[in-house]
Amino acid sequence: MKEIEARLQQGDCLEVLQNYPDNFFDLIVTSPPYADSRVNTYGGLKPEKYVPWFTQRSAEFLRVLKPTGTFILNIKEKVTNGERNTYVLELILALREQGWLWTEEFVWHKKNCHPGKWPNRFRDTWERCLQFNKARKFNMYQDAVMVPMGDWAKTRLKKLGKNDVVRFNSQAQSGFGKNISNWVGREKAYPGNVLHLATETSNKNHSAAFPKALPEWFIKLFTQEGDWVLDPFVGSGTTSEVALAMNRNSVGIDKLPEYIAMAKETVGATKLFCREDGSIDWDQLVAFNSGIT
Ligand SMILES: C[S@@+](CC[C@H](N)C(=O)[O-])C[C@H]1O[C@@H](n2cnc3c(N)ncnc32)[C@H](O)[C@@H]1O
Repeated sequence: MKEIEARLQQGDCLEVLQNYPDNFFDLIVTSPPYADSRVNTYGGLKPEKYVPWFTQRSAEFLRVLKPTGTFILNIKEKVTNGERNTYVLELILALREQGWLWTEEFVWHKKNCHPGKWPNRFRDTWERCLQFNKARKFNMYQDAVMVPMGDWAKTRLKKLGKNDVVRFNSQAQSGFGKNISNWVGREKAYPGNVLHLATETSNKNHSAAFPKALPEWFIKLFTQEGDWVLDPFVGSGTTSEVALAMNRNSVGIDKLPEYIAMAKETVGATKLFCREDGSIDWDQLVAFNSGIT
C-alpha cells in the first residue's frame, strides 16, 4: 500500500487551505475554538463576531471538500447572562446560506463528566457534532460502526407483537431497516445518533483536546483506507494521530506553533507504535507519551 501521510501545517487554516485544490478531502472533522472560551490560551472569539469569522473559513472547507465528503463540526454554546448563547444556531443558519446541507446532528454524551452544582441548571454533559454535506448523496460506511444488538434483542425483539410487524410493513417504503422483525436473531445493529464517549484525561498539554474515539468514529463512518481527512483546528493532533493509525491520509492545521510541535510529537509516536497491520498499539503509545517506557 502507498505510504500514508500525516501532514501538519502551522498557520491560519484560511491561508493554509488556499494551497489545496478544490474537492480534495473526503472528511473534515474538527473542533474549532468556541466563542468566549479559553481566551488566554488560544484566543477565544466574541459570540457576536463568531459567525463571520467562521464562515470565512468554512467557505474554504466547502471548496476543498469532495462532493461525496462530509464535514463534522464539534461545538457547544456557553451560557451567557443566564441564557444559552445562540451563536451556534446562527452559525448553522449561516452555513446553510453558504451552501452546506445540515444533514444531521450527533450528540457527544461525555459519559465521565465531573460532578458539579449550579443554581439554575445541571452540569453540561453533552456537545454537538454537527454534520454538514455538499450533496444529499455522500459516502457513508454504516457497517463500519455497527454495535452489538445488546439487551434490546432479549426484550423488545423477543416479544414482537403482530402489530409491530403490521405497523412497519404497512408503511409502504419503510424497507428492511424499519421492520423490527427483520432484526430478530441478528447480532449487530446500526447505532443511534448519540455517542457515549468518555473525555480523556490526556497526557497532552492542550486544554481542549477531544478524545481519540470521537474522530475515530467519524473517520470509520465516512472514509476508507487511503482517503484524505482534514482537521483545520488540529490542536494537539488527535485527528492526525487517529487518521494515521487508521491508514487514512491527513492534513492537520493549527495557528499556534507550540500545538503543531505537540502534534508532531504525537504523530511521530503513532508511527512508532503502528503494528504490521497498520493498527495502533495504544497501550504502548500512551506509556511512551507519559514517559513510562
Ligand atoms: C478546540 S482546539 C482543538 C483541539 C483538538 N481537537 C485536539 O484534540 O487537540 C482549537 C484549536 O484551534 C486553533 N486555532 C484557532 N484559530 C485558528 C485558525 N484560524 N487556524 C488554525 N487553527 C486555529 C487553536 O490554536 C486550538 O489549538
